[in-house]
Amino acid sequence: MEAIILSGGLGTRLRPLTYARPKPLLPIANRPMLAHLLDRLPEAVDRAVLAAGYRIDDIRAWVDENPHRVDVTVVEEEEPLGTGGAIKNVEDEITGPFLCFNGDVIANPPLEEMIELREETDALGVLALWEVDEPEHFGVVDLDRDRIRRFVEKPDPGQAPSSLVNAGTYCFHEDVLDWIEPGRKVSLEREIFPELLETREGLRGLPFEGHWVDCGRPDVYLDAHEILLEGETLVADTATLDGEGSDWACLGEDARVSAGARLSRSVLLEGAEVEAGAHLENTIVGAGARVGKDAHLVDTVVADGLTVEAGSDLDGARVGGGKQTPPEEARFEEVR
Ligand code: GDD
Ligand code: MG
Repeated sequence: MEAIILSGGLGTRLRPLTYARPKPLLPIANRPMLAHLLDRLPEAVDRAVLAAGYRIDDIRAWVDENPHRVDVTVVEEEEPLGTGGAIKNVEDEITGPFLCFNGDVIANPPLEEMIELREETDALGVLALWEVDEPEHFGVVDLDRDRIRRFVEKPDPGQAPSSLVNAGTYCFHEDVLDWIEPGRKVSLEREIFPELLETREGLRGLPFEGHWVDCGRPDVYLDAHEILLEGETLVADTATLDGEGSDWACLGEDARVSAGARLSRSVLLEGAEVEAGAHLENTIVGAGARVGKDAHLVDTVVADGLTVEAGSDLDGARVGGGKQTPPEEARFEEVR
């Protein structure tokens, strides 16, 4: 059985971190999101197909440099085709019913049960579902036993039919591919799901419990760490933490925190440095970036390779470029 992993988004909400690497390769607890995903593929899966485009060379290099239990095939999408178009684009790789994953989700959906439910019901698709407080950021379903009656992608505030949302993990029958027009941008959630609901066996949903985070924004990227680290601090073997950590912190390889610095709910990517007296809260420091002495950073993201001057006071900053800044105008350094 194949598993498609949607890995081609631009990761705009995670800028500036996604200028220098694609979202699936951003580490959570010092392992790329993609590694977490590949690790939890069930036995039934023997091949992962990565539908990639943005910074595909980085993805290819990572796949080649690391061992994997399953075969991994990277398929290029020349222009972003949307979540539906991306699946259609890898059609030739699919040999039967398959799993499909949004590449930015850290979770423990019941994959085996989803495969069974699809077989039992002969539905074209089974969606893993998760209960949230603010469903309007997601695809929201109206579920009747296991049958999905409505699917609304990012409803207007107050218009969500329930608090159960699409967890971005699916088991599909291969006939789903016949519903997607080739060669154009297609949204699985906006164009295809509403049509599939009307088919005889329809779409099914399976709510689950445990953990689930879409890591697509800095705040939830930090939440994913909190869940996986269970609130403990993680320091890579080659990193040095001389400062204090209150709450948790995560230090990637070769990251360095000097004495007298304080970190709280913050992540330092590979080789990032925080100098004495600096104070970081809910902050992500990119690879090879440096935070100068006595700087105070709250809810801030620093691009790879940049320096935050000593004594700076930043709150909610995107150092190097944000969601609206195109890569040509961004400031960051390729440090890997
Ligand atoms: N190959 C390819 N091509 N992949 C893409 C493209 C594309 O054009 N666009 C997005 N992706 C990938 C992203 O990289 C990500 O892994 C996944 O598809 C979902 O895209 P996001 O941009 O992260 O979507 P979202 O988070 O706003 O919403 C989706 O996920 C939610 C759950 O996390 C939807 O599926 C919602 O319905 C869902 O609730
Ligand atoms: Mg997402």
